[in-house]
Order: sequence, then structure tokens, then C-alpha cells
Amino acid sequence: MRKKIVAGNWKMNKNLAETGELLSNLKAKLGKVSEAEVIVAPTFTNLYRATEELKSSSVKVAAQNMHQAENGAYTGEISADMLKSIDVNTVILGHSERRAYFGETDELLSQKVNTALNHGMTIIFCFGEELQDRKSNNHFAVVESQLKNGLFHIDTSQWKNIILAYEPVWAIGTGETASPEQAQEMHAFIRSTIVKAYNETIANDVSILYGGSVKPNNAEEIFAKPDVDGGLIGGASLDVESFSAIVSAI
Ligand code: 13P
Repeated sequence: MRKKIVAGNWKMNKNLAETGELLSNLKAKLGKVSEAEVIVAPTFTNLYRATEELKSSSVKVAAQNMHQAENGAYTGEISADMLKSIDVNTVILGHSERRAYFGETDELLSQKVNTALNHGMTIIFCFGEELQDRKSNNHFAVVESQLKNGLFHIDTSQWKNIILAYEPVWAIGTGETASPEQAQEMHAFIRSTIVKAYNETIANDVSILYGGSVKPNNAEEIFAKPDVDGGLIGGASLDVESFSAIVSAI
């Protein structure tokens, strides 16, 4: 069944004290407003604090990344088992910042996808075109190839663990959102691509989030589109008032 989801990607923001404060404020606030499933993704050092703080809450905790190997000599990396051992069962993979600044390719992401699924984790799989792709009318082809090469090797039965997040790179942190029509057009295209590769049921059941400068003043019209099932929120998820306003816009 398709779910409404609002996820906050905190990126490299908030130290431990700030994380604790935001979490307790969110817990107090979202108890009242939330109809959607709410997920927050603090940085690695604050994940344990987040799962402890949110134990009694319906808000879920996601990691922003993980390594594809089970364990071993990978200095600075974090494994699926480490995440699961602190009750983090969801991971964001394929964020455009990971692709652009850390060289994550579709091939690498397909390995991370396999590892996360082998551990029974839920994946928020991110993808989206750059400005030059949209200007050259290549955006559908780019999105299709990111999906095919990074994700479409999975089995039909594994789709229940997938949340998709369409994040056009030109809209991330820029204050420029895709229009609700542009988001709807791409989300409908994504579903039709899934129908071709899998089937109607999978395409209809998967939640597709939009990400890129979602704010309290534009969330409602974006979320109102039939193929938009929620949002992956960056900057506006760092403030309790703006994030809870976005959650209540669903
Ligand atoms: P902004 O909401 O800050 O544009 O970030 C979106 C994003 O990258 C979420 O993953």
C-alpha cells in the first residue's frame, strides 16, 4: 500500500546537543500533527541518540548513507549491521550530494542497495537530473537510467522495502523548486517506467517523494499532486516549526 511519507535529511548539520533539542521538540510537536509517516536522518554520530529519543514515538530514524561491504578494512565507513544494531532500519542511498561529491555511481549504488536489502532495511533511493539535463530535455532519460542501473535489478518481492525520492539537482538548496506540474509529470513517468520493468501493482504501491526546496509555503501544492506521496526535506527539516508545518501539509 502506498504511504504518505515526510522525511527530513539533516545532512551534515546539528551536533549532539542540537540534535537532542530538535528531536525532543519534534516529538512534542508531531504527536499532534502527523498523519504521514515521518522519518528523520541525522548524521552518523547522532543516530544512536535519535533512536533512543524516539523509541516511544512513531517517528523513524534513517541513516544518510552506508557502505556496501559487510565489514572490514574500510576506514571511516559504517556498515548495515552497525546501523541495525542501533535500531536504524532505514537508509538514504544515492543522494545527489553523494553522487556528485563522493563519486557514487549507479554501479556502486546497486551494491549498496543489495547489502541494505540483504539486511532487511528500507531504502530511500534518491535520483534526479541536473540542470543541463533538463535544459537539453534529457531529464526523463537520465532518471530512467539512474533507476535501471541502480535499482531495477531487485526482485519483485523487494519493492516493499523501497521508497523513491525524486530530487532534481537544480532544486536542491537553491530555493528553486520544481513546479507541482513538473514534479507530477516526472513522478508519473517514474511509475510508468516501473510498470514497464515490473508491473502495475509495484508501480502503484511504491511511495515516491519529491525533494528540492520544499518549504511550508509550497509543500501543500506539491503534495496535492496525485503521484507525489510526500517529500524529502533538507534545509526546512532543521527547524521544528517549518518541518512540522510541512508534515501537516500532507
Ligand atoms: P533542500 O530541501 O534543502 O533543497 O534539500 C533537499 C534534499 O537534498 C533532501 O535530501
